[in-house]
Amino acid sequence: MKFSAKAGVSALAISLAAGAAAQAADVEVLHWWTAGGEAAALNVLKENLEAQGIGWQDMPVAGGGGEAAMTALRARVTAGDPPTAVQMLGFDILDWANQGEVLANLNDVAAEENWDEVIPAAIQKFSKPGENWIAAPVNVHSTNWVWANKPMLDELGIAEPTTWDEFIAALQKAKDAGKVALAHGGQPWQDATMFDSAVLATGGAEFYQKAMIDLDPEALGGKQMVQAFDKMSQLREFVDDNFSGRDWNLASAMVINDEAAFQIMGDWAKGEFINAGKVPGTDFLCFRVPGTGDFVTFNSDQFVMFQQSDEEATAAQNAMASAIESPEFQIAFNKVKGSVPARTDVSGDELDDCAKKGMEQLAAASESGNLLGSMAHGHANPAAVKNAMYDVITAHFNGEYDSQTAAEEMVNAVEAAQ
Ligand code: GAL
Repeated sequence: MKFSAKAGVSALAISLAAGAAAQAADVEVLHWWTAGGEAAALNVLKENLEAQGIGWQDMPVAGGGGEAAMTALRARVTAGDPPTAVQMLGFDILDWANQGEVLANLNDVAAEENWDEVIPAAIQKFSKPGENWIAAPVNVHSTNWVWANKPMLDELGIAEPTTWDEFIAALQKAKDAGKVALAHGGQPWQDATMFDSAVLATGGAEFYQKAMIDLDPEALGGKQMVQAFDKMSQLREFVDDNFSGRDWNLASAMVINDEAAFQIMGDWAKGEFINAGKVPGTDFLCFRVPGTGDFVTFNSDQFVMFQQSDEEATAAQNAMASAIESPEFQIAFNKVKGSVPARTDVSGDELDDCAKKGMEQLAAASESGNLLGSMAHGHANPAAVKNAMYDVITAHFNGEYDSQTAAEEMVNAVEAAQ
């Protein structure tokens, strides 16, 4: 029997009302949302499902960017015991879609709720790679943001920088004043998050597309790539001595707690500021990494559904997918998460100023061909290539390669990974 979302939910409701089933089916959800703002956002989903009588089994795997979560997932699937739903990014979804019959098919819910029309093509590419909807997109994040401590900038007389050089001058001013200028955690995915912006600030959308997405060896190993690495070397001057291995949310906390001036991070960082009661424009500033203002590097968290063996579990899964795409949920969740809705037909009126700005920039970038998948967050190329790039970027950031060598290594590493 096929379950539509509504049929699934009402079947559950009836069985609950009749006392026929002691417990409605649960969903087991594998994710890496363990930071304060992330957990608060996940709670919105959990409570939504619980209100429908669907229990939540939590399977958190800490580690920003999700690499550890993907390793845990492989172990579960290999053991023949996949979770119901798994948080996943771009090309990882496509990798699973190519694994044969492991993913569930959400076409009934999608058709009933018209997902084809309301989910933008850049995201559908991953949630519906062929005929079938296999994932429910929950948000759109973007990675080329700076988060700044506004009172600290005011105190130091630093205006919001609008060019890369102004940004470097602002970082220098903060450093000279004895502050940590750039809050950063030295983990490969965080280094790569800054690298998304270093590439964009160097050669704009055209260079980013050629190097990061098309993997053109000339772009990967050329002069502009050397310049992008030079930008990373500039940033390296402004991190504190303890940056190595630090979690991203602890870096955000340094800005929140007046210990640091700036952080370059995706807009999930805003979830931390909001969770700490901070107000955009008053306590903190959000702006695109100077030099990348016309472009947006995006990623979208999706819940990929794995095939379940019994009908109740499938019904709960469909209900979860339906809940995720409901316009009300999209607003409630993204307000807390720091991202913006994954649907094009949801108004941003209720969102904060950073999210409003983010939504406008996303729409404009999408119109002008300047919306690009984030390499750091799995939206530019498959994990093998992404990880190969991570290695080079981190080795360079830690001083193992100079910029010229790093550009050469990008070519070699990407070639070997393909
Ligand atoms: C990203 C993900 C975000 C956020 C971040 C840090 O890859 O898309 O939702 O969780 O990692 O954990």
